[in-house]
Amino acid sequence: MKPETSDAHILMSMTYASRANPNVSAKDFNEILKQAQVNNAANGITGMLTFNKDYFLQTIEGPRAQINRLLYSLIADERHYDLQVIETRELTHRVWSEWSMNYATPTEKNAAIYLKYSTTIDFNPYLLSAQSANDLMDELSSKHN
Ligand SMILES: Cc1cc2nc3c(=O)[nH]c(=O)nc-3n(C[C@H](O)[C@H](O)[C@H](O)COP(=O)(O)O)c2cc1C
Repeated sequence: MKPETSDAHILMSMTYASRANPNVSAKDFNEILKQAQVNNAANGITGMLTFNKDYFLQTIEGPRAQINRLLYSLIADERHYDLQVIETRELTHRVWSEWSMNYATPTEKNAAIYLKYSTTIDFNPYLLSAQSANDLMDELSSKHN
């Protein structure tokens, strides 16, 4: 059956945390990022991805049907596991409209930002509230660079 696409005017955002599989390297991260940017540009999705230690934290935003379709792919993707949704919400405006997928890596400058949002010794996105996850992504983003 043809997938339902008639709700393209309804925008939503989803933020999740996951853990990279042990065999995923920095090179794999670059590939994930490139794949995300190419696909998202074609699918009307924008967002922000960060990784630190072996954790991913990502926000994807776009037409509801596309976000749900991507969620199925993400859950099936063996490069990471234990995907936990932190927040879903409807949007009137995109937060990451200028980026098919913005990203932040654990640079020295970013280390202090991750630490600011950590309640434990190490950064752990599973412990973040939705508000903190949004604030962290905002601070890490090149919006401030
Ligand atoms: C942490 C992580 C983030 C990802 N982000 C995206 C994304 O934003 N957009 C996307 O299309 N695929 C993303 N992917 C890849 C998808 O899981 C999936 O492999 C891809 O969408 C499959 O599409 P393709 O085979 O047509 O390239 C991500 C994968 C991982 C592990």
